[in-house]
Amino acid sequence: MTAAPTAPDTISQSATQTPPSGADPCVLLILGASGDLTHRKLIPSMYEMHCLGALHPATAILGMSRTAKSDEGWRAEMRTAVQASVQGFDATRWQAFEQRLFYHAGDAATQASYPALIERLDTLAATRSTKGNMLFYLSVAPSLYEPIVQCIDDAGLVTEGKRWCSLDAKGRSWQRIVVEKPFGTDEASAASLNRALGRVFEEDSTYRIDHYLGKDLVQSLLVLRFANSIFEPVWNHRYIDHVQITAAETVGVGMRGGFYEQTGAVRDMIQSHLMQVLAFIAMEPPNRMRANEIRSEKIKLIGAIRPTEAADVLTHGAFGQYGAGPEPAYAQLQGVAPGSTVETFAAIKLHLDTWRWAGTPFYLRTGKAMRAKRTEVVVQFKPPAADLFKNVPHGAGGVQGNRLMIEIAPNERAELRFESKVPGRRMAIAPIAMQADFRKEFGGQPVEAYGPLIVDAMRGDQSLFKHRTEVEGAWSAVMPFLDGRSRSLREGIAGNYVQGSWGPRSADDMMLRDGRAWHDG
Ligand code: BG6
Repeated sequence: MTAAPTAPDTISQSATQTPPSGADPCVLLILGASGDLTHRKLIPSMYEMHCLGALHPATAILGMSRTAKSDEGWRAEMRTAVQASVQGFDATRWQAFEQRLFYHAGDAATQASYPALIERLDTLAATRSTKGNMLFYLSVAPSLYEPIVQCIDDAGLVTEGKRWCSLDAKGRSWQRIVVEKPFGTDEASAASLNRALGRVFEEDSTYRIDHYLGKDLVQSLLVLRFANSIFEPVWNHRYIDHVQITAAETVGVGMRGGFYEQTGAVRDMIQSHLMQVLAFIAMEPPNRMRANEIRSEKIKLIGAIRPTEAADVLTHGAFGQYGAGPEPAYAQLQGVAPGSTVETFAAIKLHLDTWRWAGTPFYLRTGKAMRAKRTEVVVQFKPPAADLFKNVPHGAGGVQGNRLMIEIAPNERAELRFESKVPGRRMAIAPIAMQADFRKEFGGQPVEAYGPLIVDAMRGDQSLFKHRTEVEGAWSAVMPFLDGRSRSLREGIAGNYVQGSWGPRSADDMMLRDGRAWHDG
């Protein structure tokens, strides 16, 4: 995954432990500087990147939100935030890092705020030599995305023009925008947002972020598939029975009831993160490990998801909402409407209409307040064509087919299960596993996934960002599970799974109907 150090268009340097190089100097303008994301993820991850030497020395970070604060006040606030979330906080390094931090009070969705902002940006660009490069980061309520983009345009802040065809592309300053999820609330609103962004920013300058793509083990899926020769020949419907992609969390919705009421598990996790994991697991090999080629393959794959027919929605989906337990039931949370049918658990089955995957289902599952925090991919292979050992005692009842499990979080490990002879005089069989623990093997502290992604945006590398067509395709694939067709999946779900379980019975039934079971071990 390591890129050639000077080529910005090769696959991300995100996974490397060594500092990524080649990030241009810029002003990172965080719109929504008082928000939770800025405190918990953005500034801590920028501090980590600073410590790794991944930021250009001239790069400055300008936080903007409506609350009046001084640079010093914001720096103190951010210091507390970083101390709370970064292990091994170093006061000396912080002192150097905080010299990059500046704050500007203003309403980014109001044109009147822009003259003062421009003045501030010009001063920063001049004093820090950021060459007019700007990375806008939309860390605000999604309803503000379009008005802010319009204001940025009206203020004339985007000056780079059509970089791809300009004669002096290298000499031009750039302006790019990072857009957070949720990217729309359905297919139509995502398309509308894409159009609004497209009127101001080229697709090459638009970075739709998905922090799952910053996770080492998600990127490792591409390495596993395309840097080895033993997996790819069997990576198809002839050998693979089905694939499970799970993102289970032990935490509940907590204080975010109001937000979650507008969201639910399908929008929050499946449409975004799990679809990206699906794309990496199932896409064709790109011609080269470069942004355009990788994104083209993802677009093709997501476009190949078979639309779920209305008649199939109920058998291809299972929804749940956690009941009372150590935490209050979802239904009791502040901001949750009485009788809410918003799902805190969802499992869906998808088919891919491709030559490679004809007949192999992909099961995507996510939930809050579940038994364990675990994000994993399980690739279940078919049993061998002929069972030569059917009369031999078997520890698991019979030959089951190989299983490759890749745990993305909280541990970073892989496990390949295969059948083995149980040592002894008589023939007996039992499954056994080969294991790889990536952290133990490679060492190093994991860094917050956002940091390397933001550095990629500073380098102009879109490999790990979503193209507009992918986002709209992912929405299209989940729409049957969100609109009227899914009404019966939502009926009576309140409390249909207990906290600390693996979800509702209906999810197990969905698998049972297919003669399969979730990997819950
Ligand atoms: C976010 C969701 O995008 O991802 C949250 O909005 C969820 O609801 C989080 O908790 C999970 O991320 P991770 O990295 O902990 O799996």
